[in-house]
Amino acid sequence: MKKLAAGNWKMNGTKASLAEVSALLAAHPAPVCEMLLCPPATLIDRMAETAKGTTLLVGAQDSHAKPQGAHTGDLSVAMLKDAGATHVIVGHSERRTDHGETDDLVRAKAQAVVDAGLIAIVCIGETEAERDAGQTLAVIGTQLDGSIPLGATATNVVVAYEPVWAIGTGRTPTLSEIAEVHSFLRGRLRGLVGEEAAGVRILYGGSVKPSNATDIFAVPHVDGALVGGASLKAADFGAIVAALSAA
Ligand code: PGA
Repeated sequence: MKKLAAGNWKMNGTKASLAEVSALLAAHPAPVCEMLLCPPATLIDRMAETAKGTTLLVGAQDSHAKPQGAHTGDLSVAMLKDAGATHVIVGHSERRTDHGETDDLVRAKAQAVVDAGLIAIVCIGETEAERDAGQTLAVIGTQLDGSIPLGATATNVVVAYEPVWAIGTGRTPTLSEIAEVHSFLRGRLRGLVGEEAAGVRILYGGSVKPSNATDIFAVPHVDGALVGGASLKAADFGAIVAALSAA
């Protein structure tokens, strides 16, 4: 299994930001791990051009579940693929919160992604109130069961565990809390996809940065990271890529 360093630029970046991509590629032309950036949809096409002939993969942050039609402002998986995306993040907590996305909708989106031959990065994670109430495993287990598409395999689905309270806050769970969740998810995946579960990448996300990446990547069943803020700067994301490559 190749580990995966995935960056999520969220609603950040314009053409000028592609200079960071060139700097990243200059510093890390051939990392041991896979390296993916998910820019805003407006930059997918240009970033895919920049990435051509390199090891950098380019993905999208969301897609509609339907193949086409009257859905103003939305983008289908086919459009994202046409622009150069190979991966699509689905069910990010910001989508679940800002747009009221449910597990059913997330699963429909993930299904559209894998049916189109792309890789779905399915995000799950508990809120702080849920963790404080001791419901973490119950919540993420339910989210995982409800969000994984039919026909999920180690090659078409990646799971990202992102505690909502750790996203963009600078706070992270302890290493033993991360270990508990990731090993729980490995077992839960076995129930869903059988032997394939051993090869499904389970990413940790939420305030991953150069200073904590090495420790987090040493946790069993952490197969990479989904990185927000620290993916915007080549130096920071490059350091995370290097830490994962060395793990
Ligand atoms: P963060 O975001 O790294 O800025 O905390 C992670 C994410 O939302 O994927």
